Amino acid sequence: MATFQSLPGFREFYPEDFARRNHIFRLWRQTASTFGFAEYDAPVLEPLELYKAKSGDEIEAQLFSFTDKGGREVALRPEMTPTVCRLVGAKASALKRPIKWFSIAEFYRYERMQKGRGRCFSQFNADIFGEPGPEAETELIAMLVQCLASFGLTEQDFYVRLSDRNLWFYYLEALGLDEPRIRGVLGAVDRFEKYGEEAFKGYTEQFGPLDDGVKLRVLAFLQIKSLAALEHTLGSIGGEKLTARLADWKKLLGNLDAMGLARFVEVDLGVVRGLAYYTGFVFEAFDRKGELRALAGGGRYDDLVQKLGGPALPAVGFAIGDMTFALLLEQRGLMPTLVQVPDVYCVLGGAAERHAAFRDIHALRAAGYRVDYPMKDIAFGKQFKTAAESGAKIALLYGGEEIAKGVVKLRDLTDRSEREVPRADVVAAVRDFFTVGG
Ligand code: HAM
Repeated sequence: MATFQSLPGFREFYPEDFARRNHIFRLWRQTASTFGFAEYDAPVLEPLELYKAKSGDEIEAQLFSFTDKGGREVALRPEMTPTVCRLVGAKASALKRPIKWFSIAEFYRYERMQKGRGRCFSQFNADIFGEPGPEAETELIAMLVQCLASFGLTEQDFYVRLSDRNLWFYYLEALGLDEPRIRGVLGAVDRFEKYGEEAFKGYTEQFGPLDDGVKLRVLAFLQIKSLAALEHTLGSIGGEKLTARLADWKKLLGNLDAMGLARFVEVDLGVVRGLAYYTGFVFEAFDRKGELRALAGGGRYDDLVQKLGGPALPAVGFAIGDMTFALLLEQRGLMPTLVQVPDVYCVLGGAAERHAAFRDIHALRAAGYRVDYPMKDIAFGKQFKTAAESGAKIALLYGGEEIAKGVVKLRDLTDRSEREVPRADVVAAVRDFFTVGG
């Protein structure tokens, strides 16, 4: 028999998987709302041009792209950032600043599949537009931490590595490199953790070997893990740009400390992020044990709105992926077992009783209670068994005798006590049961 399987790397969500996904999305939404972010969405299919040279070579190579029936070059979105820049750019003058937006959406990248990496995944994206200073980074890093901590994860489970592409630029400039070479070195730094010395191969092929003295300083710089070490290294160089940048660092770290979040954040110049558009602070969240791939990544991208045809508008944001995050929650035993349980199960006599019950069933549902009942006529005993197994707290019995008397029998399925309730009072009785605590 021929079977049709889903495409490799694409996920199917059976109800229990969907319930987990909902749980994650619900808490992310809740956190975003407490930080005052507004939700938006946008098309899944976009012009290919939107990603070409804007997202960077790696993402470009991973695009699901094709020519549509109208001859347009299109791609499934691999990320939200270029799209949100277009949305904001188109209405920038009408939007109240700072613009704080978030979305939860699905993305597509033709990647090699690994643990926590698929070809189709969801991201929570949050971005702030119109705020050039580290106040925006403060807000976003605080929200990133809260998005993970709201599930019960602590600083022992994850941390945020904070770095700065500006600082790298100013530092390499001070070491005498021009812009193409600086970009080449940053590419190597991005790959260094994974490939070690091999990471410089691309640079050497393009520009010849990196000067030994410069390389030593690059390797030392990417090991920097504290503000003090950073100040020490840069102190000997000085200069206006570097001094101003250090003041931004102090402000950002001071703000996060004041929020009580310093324990989640580590200075780590080894992070530079692969995406082409980042311009300033960049950050990534990882599990502390270092077993999983990145949980989240983001940074400042002050030029992208303008590059995509909008006004000059500073921007910074991040995205959390749902796959690595779900793995971490499971590893830590923080993924709840989520099953849909009815509040009330109705046990029905024959066709007449079923009809009589339907009015109450609908009224209870309209009042917000989860109500279930058997689709077919079944023996009472079997129905009570189903009621007990369903996890419902109450069974309502609609037998011929009860209907004739104008009542319903309410059985507490926890202690098995029973009482009769007038038909007109069923919704009130169920409400009392749940508000008084059963
Ligand atoms: P990114 O680092 O490419 O950044 O992705 C952010 C997160 O999405 C990753 O840390 C990871 O958890 C998840 N992710 C990425 N690719 C995959 C995949 N193939 N399978 C599963 N999860 C994946 C961005 O996308 C930026 N646009 C974030 C951003 C928003 N920057 C500014 N604003």
